[in-house]
Amino acid sequence: MHFSVKGNVSWVGKIDWELRKFHGEEYSTHRGSTYNSYLVRDGKTVLIDTVWSPFAVEFVENLAKEIDLAKIDFVVANHAESDHSGGLPELMRRIPDTPIYCTANAVKSLKGLYHQDWNFRTVKTGDRLNIGSKELIFIEAPMLHWPDSMFCYLTGDNILFSNDAFGQHLASELLFNDLVDQSELFQECIKYYANILTPFSALVDRKIKEVVAFGLPVDMICPSHGVIWRDNPLQIVTRYAAWAADYQENQVTIIYDTMWDGTRKMAESIAKGIHEADDDVTIKLFNAARSDKNDIITEVFKSKAVLVGSPTINRGILSAVAGILEEMRGLGFKNKKAAAFGAYGWSGESVAMITERLRAGGFHLVNEGLRVFWNPDGQALADCVSFGRDLASK
Ligand code: FEO
Repeated sequence: MHFSVKGNVSWVGKIDWELRKFHGEEYSTHRGSTYNSYLVRDGKTVLIDTVWSPFAVEFVENLAKEIDLAKIDFVVANHAESDHSGGLPELMRRIPDTPIYCTANAVKSLKGLYHQDWNFRTVKTGDRLNIGSKELIFIEAPMLHWPDSMFCYLTGDNILFSNDAFGQHLASELLFNDLVDQSELFQECIKYYANILTPFSALVDRKIKEVVAFGLPVDMICPSHGVIWRDNPLQIVTRYAAWAADYQENQVTIIYDTMWDGTRKMAESIAKGIHEADDDVTIKLFNAARSDKNDIITEVFKSKAVLVGSPTINRGILSAVAGILEEMRGLGFKNKKAAAFGAYGWSGESVAMITERLRAGGFHLVNEGLRVFWNPDGQALADCVSFGRDLASK
């Protein structure tokens, strides 16, 4: 399958309608994904990126129907991660001497992954490759999101091939951003940013400024997942700039797990208190044991404050809450307030433990949390409402 992108640029990737988990089990892909590979035909023919390894044979067979593989002059590997390089072993088996343009770090990653001594040509930011009437300009993008990541820009057609950046896990045959459901599109974009790029926000900000400083016109942004930005392509760059600036909406997210409903009742009463004090704020509750963790992280990303609750078990916290707290710590959210809560029967360590983990994760604790002894009675629930009201005022 191939689609025309613009001029002599074609999409030759793979739509993965079935994908529901990505990065092993780490990332949920409710709407599938695509692995975008692009064929650029000018005086020279260039293949930009490949697909994930389960589709390698299918990919190369389809590519061979599109073009005599021997006529591919250059391969560009913008990123070595397996979802984009997985087709290389099968492809390079057929065209072993074809040069692969990539960063020095990508040579290390590709050698580490495939143990092949392909014909690597390393490039740095600003290097140009003449392909006939047009050029490819390379722009390194280290840690967006791997050390080897790179963008490349096609002159003449003014296309930025941005690899993972500006992409979305969204399976679609509609190819372009203006053709798909906009709420689905932006939900997948923000989920991708929240779960993958949050730790690198300072680099995102710097990279956007660097690319803008190049002064290159951008008619189209072709990422390596999801749809191509052809309608107002810079709208996604503007969104990234906002997301990179310690993003928050007027939202409070309450995450908890519960054994016998005590901590759930606390969560709902705290939400009631917040709502009483501020009826403009969006409040969302998630039972961490029953919710998709990547969806929760997306809501944390959008929040100005996060409340986390667990009853005490074995002098600790329930494992679903421990898991989401570890995700939150690793992503390094900035500019977010937080507090803990939980029910307990005897030792009651959970609230202090959650408080400590939130603090270690960079959240600004507004208090030392709220504990309720055994199942909350009317007075305890009123205290939770009051706790929520007090939080809203902060
Ligand atoms: Fe889509 Fe970092 O791979």
